Amino acid sequence: MSEQATNQWTLQRLLEWTTTHFNEAGSDSSRLDAEVLLAEALQCQRIELYTRFAEVPPAEPLQKFRDWVKRRAAGEPVAYLVGHKEFYSLKFKVTSATLIPRPETEHLIVAALEVCKGYEKPIRIIDVGTGSGCIAVTMATQLDKDYVIAATDISLDALAVARENAEAHEVDSRIRFYEGDLLDALPEGSKPVHLIVSNPPYIGRCEVDTVEATVKDFEPDAALFAGEQGTEIIERLIPQAEKMLLPGGHLIFEASDSTMDRCVELVNQSALEFVEVINDYAGLKRILVAKQKA
Ligand SMILES: C[S@@+](CC[C@H](N)C(=O)[O-])C[C@H]1O[C@@H](n2cnc3c(N)ncnc32)[C@H](O)[C@@H]1O
Repeated sequence: MSEQATNQWTLQRLLEWTTTHFNEAGSDSSRLDAEVLLAEALQCQRIELYTRFAEVPPAEPLQKFRDWVKRRAAGEPVAYLVGHKEFYSLKFKVTSATLIPRPETEHLIVAALEVCKGYEKPIRIIDVGTGSGCIAVTMATQLDKDYVIAATDISLDALAVARENAEAHEVDSRIRFYEGDLLDALPEGSKPVHLIVSNPPYIGRCEVDTVEATVKDFEPDAALFAGEQGTEIIERLIPQAEKMLLPGGHLIFEASDSTMDRCVELVNQSALEFVEVINDYAGLKRILVAKQKA
């Protein structure tokens, strides 16, 4: 191979250089980040990169990739750069107005789908703090036709993204979106429901120093923080849920390992019955299931 040929920016060289660059910038998913960005710039699947290693990309996607590499190295999350994130094997649009869906939240979906099996139809569900809509939309794609979901959020911009995701997955006719504070966002006279699900903000201001810059500098504050201790939203949600749940209905929410004991205490002080705490793949306490007494 001539020197000119060996110095060309082939896909393989781009990936190797970028992986090293991201490593040096402190990313712990350098190779994956490089592959996702390059595949998106080339509008191909990640796996295809491996069959195209010797290819030199055209100028336009190469420029796009280089811009993204700079921004990623400065801490911007890959999902915001490419504009989407996979959750429960579904593709969700994300913007800087929405939290990036996390794999831990898939445990909430599994628990929620399980309790739905015991309800009489039509099932009524509320997703509080829907963000990208990943919980409401995923539930809608997994349930039979006989259900209706209300999704609330305090952010109008997030709700617009959630609506788009519902349309993209063809479940928009099943989900109603409401702007406002927790369950107060719902129209007056809304019927009680079988299930309330929520991944609320749950980081305490007291722990702000432990939050990675790539999260706190880029993801919406309102999606992350809930008062000094991280339980401000959950403290308000539990009594509201008590009023909205049908007998035998469930409240299932996500919280952090560090706040979960307090969350269990809050449920035990309420009229709801504590059912269980589910750990995530890392063995951390993550999902709380509570039930309205029958
Ligand atoms: C942790 S994010 C979760 C987003 C999405 N459900 C998910 O799991 O990726 C929390 C969401 O709650 C919304 N939120 C914060 N405070 C709220 C409130 N008081 N009422 C309704 N939504 C709120 C935020 O705007 C954000 O979209």
